[in-house]
Amino acid sequence: MEQLLRNFFLFLSKNKSLTKMAKKYGLRFGASRFVAGETIEQAVKVIKDLNSKGLEVTIDYLGEFVDNEQEANVMADHCIIAIEAIGREKLKSQLSLKMTSMGLDISDEVVMRNMYRILDAATKNHIFVTIDMEDFTRFQKTLDIFKQLKSEYENIGTVIQAYLYRTEKDVSDLNEFSPNLRLVKGAYKEPPEVAFPEKKDVDENYKNIIKMHLLNGNYTAVASHDEAIIEYTKQLVKENHISNDQFEFQMLYGIRNERQLELVQEGYKMRVYVPYGTDWYGYFMRRLAERPANVAFVLKGMFK
Ligand code: FDA
Repeated sequence: MEQLLRNFFLFLSKNKSLTKMAKKYGLRFGASRFVAGETIEQAVKVIKDLNSKGLEVTIDYLGEFVDNEQEANVMADHCIIAIEAIGREKLKSQLSLKMTSMGLDISDEVVMRNMYRILDAATKNHIFVTIDMEDFTRFQKTLDIFKQLKSEYENIGTVIQAYLYRTEKDVSDLNEFSPNLRLVKGAYKEPPEVAFPEKKDVDENYKNIIKMHLLNGNYTAVASHDEAIIEYTKQLVKENHISNDQFEFQMLYGIRNERQLELVQEGYKMRVYVPYGTDWYGYFMRRLAERPANVAFVLKGMFK
């Protein structure tokens, strides 16, 4: 049943008409639990509050189905507006973005031009940028762009997904760049030809790559709400005398808020992924797919 609901929400997340409709009608159905607002001003307010509690942030301007150059340029403009707001307001925040929003599906020229604009602004404001990882069909292209940009900029990292079979080799190959990587389980629906179908295998692979990347001496963001993974990481760093400055935990805005604060109190760096923007629908559906139990919030939101 849970798997059915998961697939249903992932299916809904890709619906272009619903995406358009959601944009028109504003944050609804309890989406504000996971999305920090529709404007940068609203997002800044949320970030200030999180920072005041000792939580660091990575901000994400939401955007789905960008399929023309003009839209991709507008998305990049919004990233630059966010960077400037972080600099101006002295927020403890990084930036996250998706290659498809920058024009990955349009042309190499568009995506690279937008990335250079963003990275120049980020460098000027001393802000770190993480390229989120999308579905497998975009994986290799995203990784190639990351490698190219990493050879030109210090302040860039990307995401590696534990559900892919190829992941261990990627983490090993990337070691020559000493990259700051965000390690995750993986959020997209991938076929068994490329990804572990069983959760236990994903979890095992996740532990392997966390260990590998940390023991290679690289900065590691462990982005998970899974207590078993958090405990594994804590134990691993303790046993291997890895300092708290070599890693951080990351969670999504609105998920396990209390645990986020506890980890700060325990002395760990905790970064919250804060999405904002009018294009909240697909992101919201993916969060529901991860945990169909959250559907209760949607129903409450509908009747409010
Ligand atoms: P999993 O979903 O296996 O959950 C394990 C346990 O965690 C649950 O049993 C429960 O105890 C607890 N839990 C999970 N969700 C909860 C909730 N809502 N409330 C309470 N408890 C909950 N993916 C991707 O493909 N590309 C990317 O770029 C990113 N980026 C990214 C950034 C950040 C900061 C995070 C945290 C995650 C991502 N992801 C991602 C998503 C990631 O791949 C994955 O889909 C989700 O984090 C869910 O997997 P978990 O590791 O949290 O555990």
